[in-house]
Amino acid sequence: MKKLLHIIATPRAEESRTLKVSGVFLDGLRESCGDCKIDTLDITKEKLPPLTVKVINGKYVLLGGGDLTEDLKLAWNEIVKQIERFLSADGYLLSVPMWNFSIPYYLKHYLDVIVQPKYLFRYTEKGPEGLVKNKKMVIITSRGGDYSPESPFYIYDNQEPYLKTVFGFVGITDVTFINTQPMDALGLEVQKQKIESAKETARKTGEAFFK
Ligand SMILES: Cc1cc2nc3c(=O)[nH]c(=O)nc-3n(C[C@H](O)[C@H](O)[C@H](O)COP(=O)(O)O)c2cc1C
Repeated sequence: MKKLLHIIATPRAEESRTLKVSGVFLDGLRESCGDCKIDTLDITKEKLPPLTVKVINGKYVLLGGGDLTEDLKLAWNEIVKQIERFLSADGYLLSVPMWNFSIPYYLKHYLDVIVQPKYLFRYTEKGPEGLVKNKKMVIITSRGGDYSPESPFYIYDNQEPYLKTVFGFVGITDVTFINTQPMDALGLEVQKQKIESAKETARKTGEAFFK
């Protein structure tokens, strides 16, 4: 049975435009894959562990190729739980609005928790190697403005390039973006149209995801 991890990075619940589009992706997925499991992780509500000095000390031990001491293992308990949940999935859906040209802080916190040496990547003589292999991801975003390649604001998009970099670094290179935009800049009529067309793409993408 395939498992999808749905990571929610907007606190706006039923008000969220991003989640409206994600909902249709999930409908498509469920229709095409009756026995798929969907694990929903709302990182705006989840109590993510803080990156304390002890936790960071552990990271440097792992970066140096060492093993965590019993004391550091204790400090890493909650970090490892989040990593294990992430790695237990066969594929990912990330629902994330643009905040200040990039990602909301909840998602940065989550990435700082899970992107760890020995678990998600390692250094080799040939350079860094991502350890999350053969897993794909769909990232559904919504933005107040329009940052498509045709827009003069394209160069301000620090969200898509950043997410491609960080997930590519850990080995997830099959990443599809569905960017729903503009949500605020051109009024309600355009917002409605853009949500509808993003939903259409999302349904097809959901249907094909685990095929
Ligand atoms: C804190 C905050 C920062 C935002 N920053 C940007 C931004 O830099 N660029 C932009 O186009 N929209 C920005 N927006 C607008 C949201 O990206 C947009 O309304 C989006 O559709 C919200 O998604 P949601 O409805 O799923 O929460 C911002 C919204 C908030 C709340």
